[in-house]
Amino acid sequence: MTEHSKPGQAVLQELAQLRAELARHDYLYHTLDAPIIPDAQYDQLFLRLEQIEQEYPQLISPDSPTQRVGSAPLAGFEQVRHELPMMSLAKVFNGSDLVDFEERIKKRLDSEAAIYYSCEPKIDGVAVSLLYEDGLLVRAATRGDGVSGEDITHNVRTIKDVPLRLRDAAAEDSKGSAIPRRLEVRGEIYMSRSGFDQINLSAAEAGTKTFVNPRNAAAGTLRQLDPKIAAARPLHMFCYSVGIFEVAQGAQTPISLSATFELLAQWGLRLNPERQVVKGAQECLQYSERLLAKRPELDYEIDGAVIKVDRLQLQAELGFNARTPRWAMAYKFPAEEVSTVVRDVEFQVGRTGTITPVARLEPVFVGGVTVSNATLHNMAEIARLGVRIGDTVIVRRAGDVIPKIVKVVTPEDAQVELREVHMPETCPACGSEVEPAGDILFRCSGGLVCPAQRKEAIRHFCARGALDIEGLGDKLVEQFVDAGIVKDVSDVFHLGYADIEGLERMAEKSANNLLAAIDKSRSTTLPRFLFGLGIPEVGEATALALASHFGSLEALMGADTAALETVEDVGPIVAAHVAHFFANDENRVVIARLREAGVHWSDEEVAEQSDALSGQIFVLTGSLEIMTRDEAKAKLQALGAKVAGSVSKKTNWVVAGPGAGSKLDKAVELGVSVMDEAQFVSFLKEQQ
Ligand code: IVH
Repeated sequence: MTEHSKPGQAVLQELAQLRAELARHDYLYHTLDAPIIPDAQYDQLFLRLEQIEQEYPQLISPDSPTQRVGSAPLAGFEQVRHELPMMSLAKVFNGSDLVDFEERIKKRLDSEAAIYYSCEPKIDGVAVSLLYEDGLLVRAATRGDGVSGEDITHNVRTIKDVPLRLRDAAAEDSKGSAIPRRLEVRGEIYMSRSGFDQINLSAAEAGTKTFVNPRNAAAGTLRQLDPKIAAARPLHMFCYSVGIFEVAQGAQTPISLSATFELLAQWGLRLNPERQVVKGAQECLQYSERLLAKRPELDYEIDGAVIKVDRLQLQAELGFNARTPRWAMAYKFPAEEVSTVVRDVEFQVGRTGTITPVARLEPVFVGGVTVSNATLHNMAEIARLGVRIGDTVIVRRAGDVIPKIVKVVTPEDAQVELREVHMPETCPACGSEVEPAGDILFRCSGGLVCPAQRKEAIRHFCARGALDIEGLGDKLVEQFVDAGIVKDVSDVFHLGYADIEGLERMAEKSANNLLAAIDKSRSTTLPRFLFGLGIPEVGEATALALASHFGSLEALMGADTAALETVEDVGPIVAAHVAHFFANDENRVVIARLREAGVHWSDEEVAEQSDALSGQIFVLTGSLEIMTRDEAKAKLQALGAKVAGSVSKKTNWVVAGPGAGSKLDKAVELGVSVMDEAQFVSFLKEQQ
């Protein structure tokens, strides 16, 4: 054994101070979600602690912040027998069952007194038990079958929300409660939704296996023998109950669950911020409804509300059934994942001819709506999932996200006819040949001969952000194209009353309104017009950049790729698309016809510009859901703001959507203001 040098008093003092300080910042950051120092400063403290421990390894203790990841992977899992069984919950699916639940309780207690309930979200994760002895985390185990589970201490130690040592509230504050001799805390470990999206995105980019949902990802991570894997995954924990609870002799114990939660919070454990105490079954119902409405905003998946009698004395009187307590209930929400059958796969043709497979499903109720279609994106996705027509699949719709197929679950011995999905050789809309476009996409070669592409092109031209013709929606475009009245976008401006009246749901008033809207749209701006042309890769922001740079359509049409590439944010691909579009005679004819029909703009007034945000620098990060990134950028630019790619001290605002990572960290570190997308939308409204 090597001799270690002996630490002096100053080192011991510094070490104790560093550990206390790091533990406090861990608590503030991970448990309270309220950091008070930038990450870089935390890293410095951590580094210093590592240095000291390297020099004096004899001083390393198991609760040191440096010891979250133990060194070597385990050889296997140990079984843990729970001293007190981990129960499950009975479920209700509607309000009247909840009222019945309360009736039963009152009957059993033989009392009409009002009952208070502690309500909280039912987290869709993995149930675990943490055991603290004299404040030190000594063991973490899965629930398993409720009687025994597996020892997963090595992985749970890596989760920053889980204190390695309980915060000694009594030592910090005279009102704080002393740490119990033994404390078993139960709760749910989960993966955040944004973290899940991020690791799946990285996995997809790296071509490795993606996870089906956050719960599977959390469970799969906790089942790893090597704690380094868990350390790198976005796992979190919410505590929701106490098992073993041995306090020092004479010490008081709480009288309610809500008071127990406050104790746990004092000791540094993380509780769900949505928890609330309410009175009576009706308020439980109202709580559940509020929670359901909030579900899409939460960064974790929930599958219901858990309703527990708050008074521990009443809990004890009510006791247990075979597997569930009589004092608690899960009020289940509509499932976000259900199974259904793929009836057929059809192919849709987009504006630029890209052919996308769409699954037609046996209709199912999922995530609160009935779903009968799900996009399959491309043939590579079909191959990845292994979907065939006739398969039973899991459909997922979480939050407000578009439904998607996540997994095939057809039993191997299913007596059903399964058909492979093939890309058609000819376009389903026009019969033109289908050709490959890039590595995984296919495209109809018909161009504007193809009615499907024509419809999409016309829809795009009339839509918001382009000419914005109010009332000219998908249904009307479909009818105009099918009837042969509109062949290209310029025909829209030759529509007369006779063409419109008599169409589905088109009475005299709506026909006149539509004609007025078409007339109004003749006066537009160059960026809107350019965006409306539907040049591949030219979104609103690029259209604005091109218009500002060239100043007129003629100048832009005359530009070669070299000139186009001098525009900010325009690279060789976009430049090639633009040049190719304007070199096409058919496109030039359509543009000329549009101008003959009176579509005009003023070259001086490139966009509806304002200087409301002039000089302000914005950074967009994470995924935006209400608008596209391009739209957000165009809107900011139109208000005079600049949109930058990275965060610096000069940045005024960061707009962060789900999945925001290092840019958001940087913003917090530099003290740059951050808003989410909903705040951004109201912010934009205020500027107009
Ligand atoms: S209380 C004795 N609270 O739901 C009752 N459970 O069927 C103990 N769960 O596997 C459970 N969120 O893992 C409780 N806020 C919450 C919960 C919750 C999720 C899970 C738990 C258990 C299942 C109960």
